[in-house]
Amino acid sequence: MKLCAISTAAFRVALATFLAVAPLSEGQNHKKFVPNYDEGKIPAYTLPDPLAPLGGARIETTADWEERGRPATLRLLTEQMYGKMPVGKPDGFKVVLDQEVTDALHGKAIRREYLVSFADGQGPVVRLLLYLPKKEIVNSKVPAFLGLNFRGNQCVESDPRITLNEGYVLGGKKDGDNKAMAEKLRGSAAARWSAELIIDQGFALATACCGNIDPDFHDGFKNGVHPLFTKGAPNPDEWGTVSAWAWGLSRLLDALEGIVEIDAERVGVIGHSRLGKASLWAGATDERFRLVISNNSGCGGAALSKRAIGETVGRINRSFPHWFNGNFKQYNEKEAALPFDQHQLISLIAPRAVYVASATKDQWADPKGEFLSLIHAEPVYRLYHDAPFGFTEEPKPGRRVGRVMGFHLREGKHNVTPEDWNHYLKFGNRWLKRAVKSGSDAVDPEP
Ligand code: GCU
Repeated sequence: MKLCAISTAAFRVALATFLAVAPLSEGQNHKKFVPNYDEGKIPAYTLPDPLAPLGGARIETTADWEERGRPATLRLLTEQMYGKMPVGKPDGFKVVLDQEVTDALHGKAIRREYLVSFADGQGPVVRLLLYLPKKEIVNSKVPAFLGLNFRGNQCVESDPRITLNEGYVLGGKKDGDNKAMAEKLRGSAAARWSAELIIDQGFALATACCGNIDPDFHDGFKNGVHPLFTKGAPNPDEWGTVSAWAWGLSRLLDALEGIVEIDAERVGVIGHSRLGKASLWAGATDERFRLVISNNSGCGGAALSKRAIGETVGRINRSFPHWFNGNFKQYNEKEAALPFDQHQLISLIAPRAVYVASATKDQWADPKGEFLSLIHAEPVYRLYHDAPFGFTEEPKPGRRVGRVMGFHLREGKHNVTPEDWNHYLKFGNRWLKRAVKSGSDAVDPEP
């Protein structure tokens, strides 16, 4: 699999030098994991400068960031954590319209289901559910939010005409026979998706079940999209499940590009929790996403790993060995040795809009570490924008802050709620509704 411009030899030397300065120490043997929630017990740590990935001269211009900084950062996170994935749309990529209703959401939306496949109909078929705001599509193409769901499209709304998810859903049986469970789940995530709220603001909403791309259990990468592209188990630097989901999000964006009512240049990618890790990685790797939203993504997502508070690298790798690549396992209980941290994941989204949301009762995901990632990614954003975030203190719960980089802390538990969506829609109105160029021409549409 190919990756990016920086030469392999140069990259290896820089990485080896970096690791020599931060040697791997002996890890503790964690039999029973007891999370630390005490700020006072966070190990002392130093975050890598996002403008000097792997050391070297500090980057000061957007051109240097794009030539040197971004490729090196992307390569580091790819090889050491998320894993290389196939590049671009595969030859056998196919999108077929399966059904359409014109009276969804109290008559306000057209709702379609498309079947997306990657190898001429062989291998996994992803059922994409799409809502289009009827009023707005008459006059123009519409911006969209795209995100994966956990347990099938039928959870998004209780309308019995939505096709039941076939195959594995989170918490279901691994043999894939989950029809009875899927039926019971109809409409169960209606608040989480808030489809009508989104349509009312003139956005389209597109979603598909993550299990259609790669079922969320460790089977040695025999199911899902991996076997279409990787023979046997992936190498230590190749993709795990989070990368497969991110790759799937890019393919769903390919599908949206072919749908005439959608403005595929104004698509925001969103994900909650493990799917928030995937939306961040999709936004980092695929610069077509204009806005990237992480909802309570925590460890392996927006939260800084070196803080080792709540969920840790060792814990996540042991509980979910299939999410990240083989190389990432070497940092179990060795966060100090990580040659990067999650603020650099955020930096890969620059200069595009990014939004991180946390919840007060979601300490497992380390809300403070999620906030700090934005702060520490800001120097890269500052190459492009004046005051992209502009906050150094965590805001009070309920308050939305930031301009190009947004943040809020919701009072409550690990979830996505209409309150979160109200913030995302305001941010989306700013960043997806007007023409904003990307790259070094990026303009801030704020007055
Ligand atoms: C677990 C896991 C988290 C993940 C979450 C989820 O709690 O430890 O990393 O974000 O599941 O996806 O719901």
